[in-house]
Amino acid sequence: MGHDLCRRPHQRMKLPKRIGVFIGIAAGFAVLCGAFYWYETKPESSPVSRGAKLAHAAGCIACHGNSIDDPRANFRLRDESWSNESIAPIWEEEHSAKSLITWITHGVSERKRESHQQYLLQMPAYGDDGHLTVAEIEDVAAWALAVGMKGFQGYDNIDEDMPELEVADIAELETAELITLGDRLSRKSGCYQCHGELGQGGAENFASFKGYIPGFQGADFAKLTDNTNAGEIRHWIEYGRGVAIESGILGSMAKKYFEEQAIPMPAYEEILSDGEIELLVVYLKWINDQGPLDMAAIESIGETIYDNL
Ligand code: HEC
Ligand code: HEC
Repeated sequence: MGHDLCRRPHQRMKLPKRIGVFIGIAAGFAVLCGAFYWYETKPESSPVSRGAKLAHAAGCIACHGNSIDDPRANFRLRDESWSNESIAPIWEEEHSAKSLITWITHGVSERKRESHQQYLLQMPAYGDDGHLTVAEIEDVAAWALAVGMKGFQGYDNIDEDMPELEVADIAELETAELITLGDRLSRKSGCYQCHGELGQGGAENFASFKGYIPGFQGADFAKLTDNTNAGEIRHWIEYGRGVAIESGILGSMAKKYFEEQAIPMPAYEEILSDGEIELLVVYLKWINDQGPLDMAAIESIGETIYDNL
């Protein structure tokens, strides 16, 4: 007994120390897991996807509507009386990046300043008022230019012919043809509806890993396609799912998210020909190589397609 009594204090000293070490390790592990989760689920963005959010937040859509077919009312003073007319959609005229920036920064272009005073609802001067930074204005312009491409490649071309393409033809395409046909087929197939204009980051998606459908650019794309591997991209298009997400340590976790997300990706295997799928694979790789497309890049892609129609 005496012996026991002597030892007890010694043991008591030891136990809390072990618990302390254990708690320390557990806390460290929790912090690491938290950091990893934060890093993995950190949303990715591009000028176009940021611009789309800003356009809603800034009220562009509230005043201008979602498209050229979505008119919003305004009054205009004419000869002492007010007449009702719709606000010109953002995409009615083909605006250049420069003119978009002028409108968003100053609320109106110099040329229209006087007639603009006649409107009951006037366009805010987002830059001059300090509501949007220069970089944010460029993002809104990138988004407006990307959406504007529907004007010449999109609204009415769902029935527009695609040439018959064999797999071997695709490698022979010049860049301008690759962009024009790849973009057209993406629109006809509905890819941008889910993945964002020009694949620059897509729609929200309940219960998906990141909460949105990833684009064809950046780290999201690289992760889901085994680092832009052509076979993986083709697999996604043919079966609406990837191989990479179902392997590795995180495979089962990725699969769970994949299966529970609200909007799944459709399988195009029986919808598109082998040549068309090859066109999309090469086009997606091209988009990805450009990195997130900024205002200047979108404008130049738009010009390339316009000239090549
Ligand atoms: C309070 C309403 C309002 C808001 C908000 C607004 N605008 Fe406007 N905007 C106007 C009006 C009014 C005009 C003049 C259009 C007309 O001639 O009918 C205009 C004109 C324009 C034009 C020139 C259209 C043309 O071709 O004549 C562009 C481009 C434009 N706005 C973009 C934007 C963008 C981008 C945003 C968001 C950052 C925005 N607007 C927010 C009211 C608004
Ligand atoms: C109904 C919406 C929808 C449509 C239409 C759609 N996808 Fe997807 N796509 C998804 C979803 C959802 C994912 C899975 C994302 C995930 O698991 O995190 C995905 C993933 C992908 C991926 C994996 C890499 C990445 O970052 O996107 C590729 C490649 C892809 N789609 C290409 C296409 C192409 C090309 C088309 C048109 C032929 C298309 N998708 C049409 C919803 C769609």
